[in-house]
Amino acid sequence: MEKNTKNNPCKTDVFAEYGKTLMVHVDTSFGQKILDLGCGNGDLSAELAGNGAKVLGIDNSAETIVKARYFHPELMFAEIDALELPYNAEFDTVFSNSVFHWIPDVDRLLSEIHRALKPGGKLVCEFGAASNIATIRQAFAAASARHGHEYRERFYCPTPDEFFDRLKRANFEPERVLEFDRLTPLPGGADGLKAWVRCFLKNDLSLFVSAKQEQILTEVETACRPLLWNGREFVVDYRRLRAVAFKS
Ligand code: BEZ
Repeated sequence: MEKNTKNNPCKTDVFAEYGKTLMVHVDTSFGQKILDLGCGNGDLSAELAGNGAKVLGIDNSAETIVKARYFHPELMFAEIDALELPYNAEFDTVFSNSVFHWIPDVDRLLSEIHRALKPGGKLVCEFGAASNIATIRQAFAAASARHGHEYRERFYCPTPDEFFDRLKRANFEPERVLEFDRLTPLPGGADGLKAWVRCFLKNDLSLFVSAKQEQILTEVETACRPLLWNGREFVVDYRRLRAVAFKS
């Protein structure tokens, strides 16, 4: 099975590396029970388990779970939807990196996580903040409009204030909710931006016939180049929201 497919942002594992800095907020000591929600290939689950914590990695993609089991046969993984967690007061920590922006029903997600945590348990998460990947999103929306389709935002990327309020409404006590820039070089050099759009805006792109898709990709690349191309690679304006909150 292939790992780190260098030039394909859908397959590459480079983005998971960024999740490692989020782990400083997690107690990974022996006896701790941790749910890695949206575990991907399981690399971060393995890091979380390194000190003796008992980690379960879950993902809603069967293919991803097969991959995680292949690369980390010593760990536990399960194909489970984050909006249907079959747990009651079981985990000390729910950890989630780069997942929440894919789940528009964040209120339900928080309620599921709340139930899965032990009393006083901790949620540690990081995902896209309000202006995340703004240059690409704006370029894609403009190109879509030129080709007769209004782009509808699919990602849940809130401000810290908005997410803080949601945490409170879901009966969490936020310890920190902060946002920061994370400039992110894309793999694939000159082809990197188109590959990224093909992967992450696949559903929006598929609304167009293939000749138009190519035109849109070229227009997006042209619009982004002055802001994101550094002469060697595209560096994208990711902006993250990081939150640590306790079940109250
Ligand atoms: C991210 O912030 O990781 C992200 C957001 C939207 C699409 C792809 C990635």
